[in-house]
Amino acid sequence: MDKRPHILQTTELCVTATSRALVRDVSLTIAEHQVFGLIGPSGAGKSTLLRALNRLTDLVPGLKVTGDVQLHGQSIFKSGMDANALRARVGMLFQQPVVFPASIVDNVLFGARRLQSLSKSAQTELAESALQEAALWSEVKDRLKTPAAKLSVGQQQRLCLARTLATKPEVILMDEPTSALDPRSTEAIEALIKRLKSRHTIVLVTHNLRQARNVADHLAFIGVRDGVGQLLCSGSVDSVLGRTDVAEVDEYVCCQ
Ligand SMILES: Nc1ncnc2c1ncn2[C@@H]1O[C@H](COP(=O)(O)OP(=O)(O)O)[C@@H](O)[C@H]1O
Ligand SMILES: [Mg+2]
Repeated sequence: MDKRPHILQTTELCVTATSRALVRDVSLTIAEHQVFGLIGPSGAGKSTLLRALNRLTDLVPGLKVTGDVQLHGQSIFKSGMDANALRARVGMLFQQPVVFPASIVDNVLFGARRLQSLSKSAQTELAESALQEAALWSEVKDRLKTPAAKLSVGQQQRLCLARTLATKPEVILMDEPTSALDPRSTEAIEALIKRLKSRHTIVLVTHNLRQARNVADHLAFIGVRDGVGQLLCSGSVDSVLGRTDVAEVDEYVCCQ
C-alpha cells in the first residue's frame, strides 16, 4: 500500500460524447512523486481520460465530463478554478511534439509568459533551468534564437517538455510521449521521466509494456466493456500485468 500523499483523485469520472459514453466510472488515486502508468488497447479511452485530468476536455465541443477530479483535495471543476492556471499546474506532453513556428527560447517561455510577466533576466534564468531539467540545455545553449523546427523530433519532444516544465507543473500528463521517437530518443525520455518524479508526479499513457516495466511505479489498465472505456484493474506493475484472470488484460499482455 502506497503511503505517499495523494495529489490527484478521480471519483466516478465519466466522459460522454454527444452520441455515446467514452469513459465510465473511473475512480483512481494517484500518489505524489510517482510515475502512474495507464495502459490498455487503442480506443479504450486513455487519452480522453488523461485530458479530463487538466480539463483539456473542455476544449472539445460535445464532450461532457461528470464525476470529479480533485487536485490536492480540491475539485478542478469548482467555480473560480482558472483552466489555464490548472493546466500550468497539471501540464501535458503529447504523442507528437507540438513546436510553434518560433525560436527555441520563445517556445520554452511560451506558456510561462502567458501566466506572468517576467523580467528579461528572469526569462533567461527560467529558460535555462527548464532546458536543463529537460536535458536539452547542452545541445541548444549556443543557438537559443534559432527556429525550434530545426531540432530533431527527439529534441523537439524534450523542448515541449521544457515548455511544460517552465510553468512549474506539479503533475505532468504524458500521452504516449515516445511513440514518435527512435529508440535512442525514447531512452532519453525514459531516463528523464525517472528523474522528473523527484520533483513532479507523472501520469504516463504508454502502449509499451517494456516502458511500463521500466518507468512506472503503479499501473492502471483501461479496457473496453459494453463499448465503454473502464478501469479494469490497478496496482503494482507486476500485479496488473499478472492479472490473467481479467480477460482483457490477458489478451493485451499476450499480444504485445
Ligand atoms: N471528441 C470525440 N467525440 C466522439 N468520440 C471520441 C472523441 N474523442 C475520442 N473519441 C472516441 O473515444 C474512444 C476513445 O478514444 P481515445 O481516448 O483516443 O482512446 P485511446 O487513447 O485509449 O486510444 C475512441 O473510440 C474514439 O474514437
Ligand atoms: Mg490515445
